[in-house]
Amino acid sequence: MNPIEISPEQFKSLCEQFLAIASDYLMELDSRSIPAKGSGAEIDRIFRAPLPETGLADEALRAFSDVVQHSRAQNGRFFGYVLGSGETAGAATDLLCSVLNQNVTAWRSSPAAVTLEKTVVSWLAKIVSCREFHGVLCGGGSAANLMGLAMARETKAPANKGGIPRGLGLAVYASTEAHMSIPKAIALLGIGRDNLRLIPVDNSFRMIPSQLEQAMLRDTERGVAPIAVVGSAGTVNTGAIDPLTEIAAIAAKFGAWFHIDGAYGALGAIAAPHKFPGIDRADSISLDPHKWLYQSIDCGCLLYRDATAAQRAFSYSGDYVRTLTNDPVESFAFFEESIELSRRFRALKLWFSLRYHGLAAFRKSIDNDLQHAQRLGSSIEETPELQLMAPIELSAVCFRYVGGIPGIHTENDLNRLNSEILRRIVERGNIYLSNATLQSRFCLRACVVNHRTTNSDIDRVVAEVLAVAKEVDNAN
Ligand SMILES: Cc1ncc(COP(=O)(O)O)c(C=O)c1O
Repeated sequence: MNPIEISPEQFKSLCEQFLAIASDYLMELDSRSIPAKGSGAEIDRIFRAPLPETGLADEALRAFSDVVQHSRAQNGRFFGYVLGSGETAGAATDLLCSVLNQNVTAWRSSPAAVTLEKTVVSWLAKIVSCREFHGVLCGGGSAANLMGLAMARETKAPANKGGIPRGLGLAVYASTEAHMSIPKAIALLGIGRDNLRLIPVDNSFRMIPSQLEQAMLRDTERGVAPIAVVGSAGTVNTGAIDPLTEIAAIAAKFGAWFHIDGAYGALGAIAAPHKFPGIDRADSISLDPHKWLYQSIDCGCLLYRDATAAQRAFSYSGDYVRTLTNDPVESFAFFEESIELSRRFRALKLWFSLRYHGLAAFRKSIDNDLQHAQRLGSSIEETPELQLMAPIELSAVCFRYVGGIPGIHTENDLNRLNSEILRRIVERGNIYLSNATLQSRFCLRACVVNHRTTNSDIDRVVAEVLAVAKEVDNAN
């Protein structure tokens, strides 16, 4: 027998042990402190062990309790970033996904998996009112944004063959609140980060359409081609939704591609479709089922109106992948519409999770998140020591502590104080918040994309911030 082959019985025994570790983790999740145990040096000492020449067999499993102990717990009180909570019916399919080891690159290499990916993509497209769109699953919102903007560049200023001609000025537009993956994509596509025009936002952190139009006009007048506009359907800081209908009209007027970054917010359309008017005017849309469909990482998605735009950007076939059939279903290849060639079976968990629970359950869960955010907003407004810093459009809540602490007078003092409060909150581990800087003000930020969160978890937020502020006050 090959030395790395294990018998089906050994496989089953391994799986049972993994299952026990995973279910123990879930059973104690709610009572766990959120931060991972141990300092960087301690964790290095545990895991930076030499590679064994001789296999450890079951002994290798022992390290798994260390992996669990030194991982951050994602219970109902985790409100950092935009981190989906990892729905476990979908997660349970990961084992089958890896055992089947399908390469979801083309129908002929994985017929069921390709068909399931097309199925879940069509479900996602329908959810965001873009029924006729095509799409691919990918690693996440950053990858989807990069692919959407690659299609935009190749459609509006083809450069895959000869590169961007010297002296040809290109510009892309997004609001000052756009996610960091947008400038990263612009840089990777050779457009140059300096050619991303950051359009100002209004008091609700939404892009101002008249400012967009002026910026595009200025560029065209000086011979720079406006190739793409990026609108946000849920900004990472506050969840603001740009005025998509107006932006679409302006993009069309200048012949620019319209990409929507809906990685955080667009799947909120399951519970609140009225919040996204104009989303169907996009040329491409990023979605992230691993955020607001609670799927375990990774599961991102790019939707696009025109499959030939995807093929223009990504189809470059070698002879070794030539299809031997003319059947339109059987000759389909995802690698012609995506950056990836070898691709994992991401659709399996999403397909199973959606069918297992049904769409109504997800609608309820997303609605809970929306209501939890409103509940937190109300309790912040009822607490004189706290100040709400942005309207709550979706499920992100930005606020700060403004209670009287001796020596705290200026905006800079408040920034330092809130940053110290956040540091202590994270260290205590009862809840997890992250931060946002809005109009140069450091804010505490809670984002609820968490199917485990309850009202009492939400109520811990204000209590914890006040307790920590008192601690800082006493230490002064
Ligand atoms: C608005 C927005 N766009 C893009 C991303 C990037 O998504 P990912 O982390 O899946 O790459 C995020 C992540 O939080 C986001 O909030």
